[in-house]
Amino acid sequence: MAAISLDNLRKTFGKVVAVNDVSLHIDDGEFVALLGPSGCGKTTTLRMISGLESPDSGRITIDGNDVTQLPPRSRDVAMVFQDYALYPHMTILDNIGYPLKVRGVSKEEMTAQVTSVATNLQIDKLLERRPGQLSGGQQQRVAVARAVVHHARVFLFDEPLSNLDAKLRLEARAFLKHLQREVGITAVYVTHDQAEAMALADKIVVMKEGNIMQAGKPLEIYYQPANTFVASFIGNPPMNLLSCEMQDGRIQILAGGEPQSITLASAHIPAGMAVGASFTLGVRPERIAIDTVETPNSLRVKLYVTQTLGGEALVIVRLGEELVTIRLFEDEAPDLPQDLYLTILPEHLFFYGADGERLT
Ligand SMILES: Nc1ncnc2c1ncn2[C@@H]1O[C@H](COP(=O)(O)OP(=O)(O)OP(=O)(O)O)[C@@H](O)[C@H]1O
Ligand SMILES: [Mg+2]
Repeated sequence: MAAISLDNLRKTFGKVVAVNDVSLHIDDGEFVALLGPSGCGKTTTLRMISGLESPDSGRITIDGNDVTQLPPRSRDVAMVFQDYALYPHMTILDNIGYPLKVRGVSKEEMTAQVTSVATNLQIDKLLERRPGQLSGGQQQRVAVARAVVHHARVFLFDEPLSNLDAKLRLEARAFLKHLQREVGITAVYVTHDQAEAMALADKIVVMKEGNIMQAGKPLEIYYQPANTFVASFIGNPPMNLLSCEMQDGRIQILAGGEPQSITLASAHIPAGMAVGASFTLGVRPERIAIDTVETPNSLRVKLYVTQTLGGEALVIVRLGEELVTIRLFEDEAPDLPQDLYLTILPEHLFFYGADGERLT
């Protein structure tokens, strides 16, 4: 086990800035998820930690030792690659057991350890086959199993469950989480699935274009998104964002259509917000109440569409020319009329400035 520090890491490929400036501390035994859209630099960051890629500038330390210039084999990290990287000519048993064989573990001991991990990942019936005879999801679990038997100081996972169906994915996730709790592994886990990051990680790091947009505990990221990028990336469906203008004690909503506003006590308005200031208002879909009659401070909207999720429903309404999504329990969304009224408690409103950063 080990603590990892990344200091001002930067990596370019020709003109492409893959990682711009990443600084991050990962505690011993911490499970960190790197989350962000395709191309934001997740894999490149992981490959720099593993030693497969060397940064243009910046420093990587593991347990206080500078490993920036060390080759991968001297770093004691196990990595599950996005493309599995299995040995095609070896059986699955030998693929998974390879790190143990290298270490001189006996055949019996190797077989016992591999079988145990393979059973947990439901690939124990495949041990005699070769990678070419496995589905993508099965190969992926073989790669995870190989990393797990490694008992490295640091585990690096690059989208290790992306090819599994929903049920297997939940089971494999539970196994990894259990393993982390049991063995206390330090892990960096790349995913673009925010639900997976929420479920697994102690800390989520949201990236965009080679930079960290926010790092924090899953619920911190969810309930206190620091900017509109994080707000619109986390949550399914994500936060509703509306352009607004501050007026005296009122928020004027700039959604087109008839003018509408929300009156707020000054305690709920961010300090220093001047009358006339433009900003973005954010509200989570589950924090909006819906009514069929007008109440003080409610917003008039038109029903656009209702989507059933099973257990829950998404009610999408038109506010002026903008769409607003509301998440309700299924039984709260019976046949709704066209004219609806939304109410949002002031404590559930988020304010973001013109630069996208949160105002408090
Ligand atoms: N070897 C390379 N040569 C040139 N450009 C590269 C190379 N590797 C990555 N890039 C570029 O660097 C940027 C970051 O790539 P990276 O693979 O780190 O993204 P990612 O966040 O892992 O994306 P994904 O979710 O699609 O896997 C991308 O624009 C990519 O095209
Ligand atoms: Mg990647």
